[in-house]
Amino acid sequence: MSDAELHVHGTAGELSAAAGEAIVESLHNGLVGGWAAIALAGGRTPRGVYEYIAEQHADLPWERIHVYWGDERYVPHSSPDSNYRMARETLLDLVPIPELNVHPMPTNAPDPDDAAWAYEHLLRDASGDRPMLDAIILGIGADGHTASLFPGSPAVAERDRWVVPSQAPDEPRRRLTLTLPIINAARAVHFLVTGASKHEALVCALAGGDCPAALVQPPDGTLTWWTDSAAISGTEGN
Ligand code: 6PG
Repeated sequence: MSDAELHVHGTAGELSAAAGEAIVESLHNGLVGGWAAIALAGGRTPRGVYEYIAEQHADLPWERIHVYWGDERYVPHSSPDSNYRMARETLLDLVPIPELNVHPMPTNAPDPDDAAWAYEHLLRDASGDRPMLDAIILGIGADGHTASLFPGSPAVAERDRWVVPSQAPDEPRRRLTLTLPIINAARAVHFLVTGASKHEALVCALAGGDCPAALVQPPDGTLTWWTDSAAISGTEGN
């Protein structure tokens, strides 16, 4: 079981800076081997961290950094719901990363399972048979989901495929998600969790309870929780 590190910050700015620096360090660790690969989370929480990295670390060797996604809503990349669009607006359009290094999950195949297999092949071609993520950024939902691994979803039980379609309880329901085998093979997992609404899910995950986020236990990697006092206490503004 991973030795998790828990950080609690008083403000969103402090959390973005601390998590941003740690994520950049994970990239530097990967770059020692020549290139680095990171999988991004979607949703709202990562925005501040991405903006921080764009502001403070545009000088990274982005030509040697490859960006993937941990999950995606099965919508056009131009959709306001797209995790790809969010990452472009807050990070990727603001740093000199070559287009060939940006690997969005495809969302235009009629059958999401075909898109999932296409992304899996892309990941496997890039990494050989050993999942190669130097860092993965994850969020957590109030129900304890992470990426698009929702409670009760067959995607949570997947132990062979690296990418599968999944269904969210709310719109946009159709998703693609990395699975636990590739998530837990990452060299560094960074969870970003803020707000009182995430308190119960955070407790479940930290205590190894019955929620998908608790299954993120990278045996050979580091597991770091970047939280704020509201998520820890369960009350806002204390
Ligand atoms: C997504 C995310 C998802 C997210 C959590 C938290 O596609 O929505 O990947 O797993 O991390 O739902 O979302 P917020 O950061 O918006 O609270």
